[in-house]
Amino acid sequence: MAYPIVILGSGRGSNAEALLKAEAKKQLGAAKIAAIISDHEDAGILELGQKYEVPAIYIDPQRKGARLSDEAEQNYIERIQSFSPKLIVLAGFMRIIQPSFIEAVNGHMINLHPSLLPSFPGMNGIGQAFDHGVKVTGCTVHWVTPALDAGPIIDQKEVRIDEKDTLKMLEKKMHIIEHQLLPDVVTRLSKGQIKSR
Ligand code: GAR
Repeated sequence: MAYPIVILGSGRGSNAEALLKAEAKKQLGAAKIAAIISDHEDAGILELGQKYEVPAIYIDPQRKGARLSDEAEQNYIERIQSFSPKLIVLAGFMRIIQPSFIEAVNGHMINLHPSLLPSFPGMNGIGQAFDHGVKVTGCTVHWVTPALDAGPIIDQKEVRIDEKDTLKMLEKKMHIIEHQLLPDVVTRLSKGQIKSR
């Protein structure tokens, strides 16, 4: 059964690209990336559209800060629904998702976070862990619920912070494991190996 997904992101889109690459190599199970949507007109993630021949759409958030305006939220919901996705993937989408948004997509939304939740939620998960001096951190994919970064955890992957690691080095290590974990989770969801919500 086809498993269309829509990716939302605000940044360079390396995780979106990991998903697109996996799909191109037929390593994403039944998942098919139907569209990429961003709240930043000049975000790198939108450039992936042309490269991988996927619709890449900017939707004006109509507000600065963490929340979309009510009208913008409606625009996001309508656009997302036009692709009839089975799953929405937040891959570096730097907005707080309102309960009404989550409800509108029946909770079929996952988020990638760069820490081992419940440690270091919110902004700058990598920097928070580094500054705290933990020796092991990692990334988490979880269901999105109204509680910020606190929805049910689907899977996690860890990374060690070595004595010699700089923040930059840790960021690199983090992206490597994120690019493994996210496609893996999406694949398993698409194959029904992880219970959907
Ligand atoms: C990723 O590290 C992701 O975990 C993080 O944003 C980055 C996006 O990178 N997300 C969060 O911090 C969410 N709170 P990318 O644009 O290269 O995929």
